[in-house]
Amino acid sequence: MNICLVGVNHRTAPVAIREKVAIRAGRLNEALQLLRSHVSPGLILSTCNRTEVYTATSGASYAEAAILAFLRTHLDAPEATLLKHTYVLNDKAACEHLFRTACGLDSMIVGEYEVLGQVRQSLEAADKSRMVNLPLRHLFQRAIRIGRRVREETEISKNALSVSSVAVDLATEVIGDLTSCKMLVIGAGEAGRVAAKAAKDRGVSRITVVSRTKERASKLATALGGQPVSMDRLVEELDSCSLVMACADAPHYLLDIPQIETVMKRRPGLPLVIIDIAVPRNVAPAVSQIKNVFLHNIDALSLVAEQNRKQREGETQRVAEIITAEMTEFSTWWQTFEVRPVVRALMKKAEEVRYSQLNKTLKRLRPLSDEERDSLEAMTKSIVTKLLQDPINYLKTNANNNGQYAELVNKLLGLEVEN
Ligand SMILES: NC(=O)c1ccc[n+]([C@@H]2O[C@H](COP(=O)([O-])OP(=O)(O)OC[C@H]3O[C@@H](n4cnc5c(N)ncnc54)[C@H](OP(=O)(O)O)[C@@H]3O)[C@@H](O)[C@H]2O)c1
Repeated sequence: MNICLVGVNHRTAPVAIREKVAIRAGRLNEALQLLRSHVSPGLILSTCNRTEVYTATSGASYAEAAILAFLRTHLDAPEATLLKHTYVLNDKAACEHLFRTACGLDSMIVGEYEVLGQVRQSLEAADKSRMVNLPLRHLFQRAIRIGRRVREETEISKNALSVSSVAVDLATEVIGDLTSCKMLVIGAGEAGRVAAKAAKDRGVSRITVVSRTKERASKLATALGGQPVSMDRLVEELDSCSLVMACADAPHYLLDIPQIETVMKRRPGLPLVIIDIAVPRNVAPAVSQIKNVFLHNIDALSLVAEQNRKQREGETQRVAEIITAEMTEFSTWWQTFEVRPVVRALMKKAEEVRYSQLNKTLKRLRPLSDEERDSLEAMTKSIVTKLLQDPINYLKTNANNNGQYAELVNKLLGLEVEN
């Protein structure tokens, strides 16, 4: 059995590529159904930093090709483009990568909390779609446990930043003092909520929230002492704003050139800073060509992210040590799992032989008392257990990924192994 991971992340691809393979939360189930037509079982982890597909199947090269074919259905670009931006990791490397991801080491904002919830949600979604087998479930559950553990035992997430809070820091760098800003937040989900709260904490007093669902915008705006605005008033609302945080999980641009041009004509000379952290992006990139519009997307956060990464370097080392120890434990579990069918077949065969030989003997003997029969039964069971104990332990501790020993036992004893 192989674990295969094919992914695209913030290190291998710019947002223009990531947004094409990004699978929005609301489309995850549909995407899992599509994945099933290529390969199953499988699990999709899609966040603003990455889209990754994990499988646990009996053929690595088959899984890799199938996942690439699945990703290609999203990317409207030549195959060479996809291959240029994807990475493929197998077995140990794939597991270690997931553990690092759950710990926040693979994120643009090292130590962020959000990714742990996203790993959990991806497992839940795949579980609901019946796309998870035992190794995948065990792998993801362990990743979640390690993610929690490192946050308790190290300071990797102490005063953790998030993409949304770093976006507000970027706004401060671009604009300077934010206290006199009027800010518009597009999207009242998790990203919008954290961005709005970070802005309020940094002194932004006038915050307007736009969301597709009016009640959601109202709830967030009320919590911040801000104003909710309906989506159809989005463009008008821009007239009076100097900062926009775009955080909606929309499949298409919510703001394009004609709308922003109209807005800028109505407010000549006044700059408009837009920070678009959505993936896929909410604002058409060409908007940056309009005079006095300063558009930044999520990749522009990399400078602040780099400073954050450097500050956490010492803790990163401690997290890496925990991951190494957890990898050893996981490898042991994996080896045991790999030889389980052979061990089961071995025990089944031994039990069949014991049972039939005991019955033959019993038929030849005088009628025995219950006590005598029980003694014979216990003795034969004990012989079988003692004989098998060492080989089974050896199999569990020495089976390598190719299953050589398991295969040898299988052939030697003519076992019928069920996978
Ligand atoms: N969560 C994070 O930590 C994080 C970090 C960085 C970037 N991001 C990016 O930010 C975006 C939102 O993520 P999230 O975690 O906040 O998601 P979320 O909690 O699911 O919230 C999604 C938001 O997007 C709105 N929305 C969904 N479909 C829409 C559509 N078709 N048109 C307009 N609005 C729509 C929703 O509106 P209603 O609910 O009001 O209908 C909601 O306000 C994503 O692109 C994500 O990649 C998220």
